[in-house]
Amino acid sequence: MNSTDIRLDITKIPKSRIDAVDFENLQFGKQHADHMMYCDFIDGEWQTPKIVPYGPMQFEPSAKVFHYGQAVFEGMKAFKDEEDKVWLFRPEQNFQRINKSSKRMAIPEFPESHFFASLEALLKLDKDWVRKGGGNSLYIRPFVIATESGVSASESDRYRFMIITCPAQAYYSKPIKVIFAQDYSRAADGGVGFAKAAGNYGAQFYPTKLAKEKGLDQIIWTDASSHEYLEEAGTMNIFFRVGDKLFTAPTNDRILDGVTRKSIIQLAKDKNVEVVVDKVSVKQIVEAAKSGELKEIFGTGTAAAIVRVEGFEHDDVYYDLPDIEEPYGTFFKKNLQDIQYNRVEDTHGWTR
Ligand code: COI
Repeated sequence: MNSTDIRLDITKIPKSRIDAVDFENLQFGKQHADHMMYCDFIDGEWQTPKIVPYGPMQFEPSAKVFHYGQAVFEGMKAFKDEEDKVWLFRPEQNFQRINKSSKRMAIPEFPESHFFASLEALLKLDKDWVRKGGGNSLYIRPFVIATESGVSASESDRYRFMIITCPAQAYYSKPIKVIFAQDYSRAADGGVGFAKAAGNYGAQFYPTKLAKEKGLDQIIWTDASSHEYLEEAGTMNIFFRVGDKLFTAPTNDRILDGVTRKSIIQLAKDKNVEVVVDKVSVKQIVEAAKSGELKEIFGTGTAAAIVRVEGFEHDDVYYDLPDIEEPYGTFFKKNLQDIQYNRVEDTHGWTR
């Protein structure tokens, strides 16, 4: 079924809350646009999607999501160009990925037509919440939760798919300091690391809190079995520039197949920058830092965009990264944003 054939139940907010928002001082994820979408899975079927004013919802305390974390989510952004057109960036990637995550978590897949019909209707209603200008966007958070009540440890037979949105600026307002994981792990082979399962993120809060107590911002996770290979950071994928080459880990069971990650790999190839998608060892990066060959580390993600890592800690030693001229991170961030804000021709067909 085509997304234009989908019936939606729409209840508009009586009066927009937009005038109360200070768009110059947004805290990531704290403000929500006027409307949200939800769609229930009942009796084996996804029901009519509903768009309603953003607000609290009621769930039974025994709803399975609260007990077993049967929940997945996505992160997307809408951008506004100089002519007030609103653009999504590679939204089909997020749609496919939420269903991949759902499948792993025994959640029924959501129909493509429902997804795009609701998303487009939501963005039309809340288009004023997408602000113009570099760095501004509307962060879009689709998610699914298990809503069946009952604490038996088995998959739910009811779910709620939802989309909420938040006006956003930078997720990180400055470069970050990271630590390479040595004691804790994020994901294991055969596990759910590749999925945007809620618990993957919640499980990082405690080790990240310990890292923050040391004055660091994030962890770069290493493989769970040996802690010898660098995989991804808490909120993003990660790239290392050694000499003029970029290195990033291949996606697998443990690593999220990031949309920004794959876009940067493509943009780098377009500019004839060699990208080595292979295991990146801690040893290789520490030695490159010591010899001065390590020029940059940057993270890539929808929320984070591209963020520079200014230094890392490993084995209780902190390594500062050089402040180089024309970093790839800055260059590819601009390259990417030019496409996202429709400032250049989108030769890849990524925007919608
Ligand atoms: C995103 O980049 O959209 C994410 O979902 C990461 C999130 C943990 C902030």
